[in-house]
Amino acid sequence: MDQVIVNDVAPRDGLQNDPAAVSAADRAELVNSLVDVGLPAVEVASFVSPKAVPKMAGAAELVAALDLDRADFSALVPNRKGYEMARAAGMRSVALVLSATETMNRKNINMGLDQALAVCRETVQQACADGLKARAYVSVAFACPFEGPVQDSQVELLAGEMFAAGAQEVIIADTIGAGNPLRAKQLFGRLAAAFDAAKLAAHLHDTRALALANAWQALECGIRKFDASAGGLGGCPFAPGAAGNLATEDLVSLLHQAGLETGIDLAALLKVVGRIESLVGRPVGGRALPWLHRRFANREAA
Ligand code: HMG
Ligand code: MG
Repeated sequence: MDQVIVNDVAPRDGLQNDPAAVSAADRAELVNSLVDVGLPAVEVASFVSPKAVPKMAGAAELVAALDLDRADFSALVPNRKGYEMARAAGMRSVALVLSATETMNRKNINMGLDQALAVCRETVQQACADGLKARAYVSVAFACPFEGPVQDSQVELLAGEMFAAGAQEVIIADTIGAGNPLRAKQLFGRLAAAFDAAKLAAHLHDTRALALANAWQALECGIRKFDASAGGLGGCPFAPGAAGNLATEDLVSLLHQAGLETGIDLAALLKVVGRIESLVGRPVGGRALPWLHRRFANREAA
């Protein structure tokens, strides 16, 4: 059966901008719960300035609490310093963040596009030389909150730069949820033709309730790896208007209904969503959550 890999970003994207501060120990426990229910990949932390993103402090402590053999764990790194910290902590996979526009790079990592590209290129090369897996985001792939629409050619150019530097995976990120199914079909179709679709992933925020529709288009274009966030938490602190990520439970529900395999126990994942609610102190969850709860409650009763 056709297999799709889901990478849960709740511990990183989900919690980096949440009003609740969740300790490194609780975030490590969340990572383990996600692996327990079958997530094959989790973005566990970011090695970024605690002044820029206070909620992600304690990344090394979090990583030290994990058994790194359990799943494909990655950490976000914005620069060389973050890379060195992630490597020293024992991470085997890092994710660089390159935005498609000048202003988004400046707001997010305090570098212009040229400098961000050079830093990402050098860090990817270093990771490869050190035997780590290097992943690279291309953010604001449909539109930038500061500069407006982004050309598909620009996304293709930057993805090509990252592959040329040695990135094993390029993650196409709709940071503010500005994509729609027509645009998603164009962009993912173009990228899947230009590159090996097995090395592309989609990271879709759900601001306009179109993330699932866009994910479907990406699937139709041959993309088989998706970021998603249990409970639908998420958003970049430096991208105004960014809402939560595509909820893992919504994505997995779609994939399973379409006959695609993920290895994830959806009923058990709902319990992790419940745990996230208690960590952040308010109701969370994807759009299908009430129906999913009813579905599994009925199955257990039957
Ligand atoms: P800067 O101020 O230009 O950095 O910030 P700097 O090199 O001038 O250093 C300033 C201070 O930060 C120094 O410390 C450095 O040592 C320290 P001080 O001397 O003042 O005590 N520093 C660091 N500390 C920890 N980790 C580091 C690091 N680097 C320098 N890696 C910097 C530049 C990149 C550090 C800052 O802007 C930053 O941390 N940005 C992170 C932004 C971020 O995390 N954004 C959210 C994640 S991206 C996202 O969510 C999008 C995504 O989900 C995909 C999508 O949806 O599009 C991935
Ligand atoms: Mg994101």
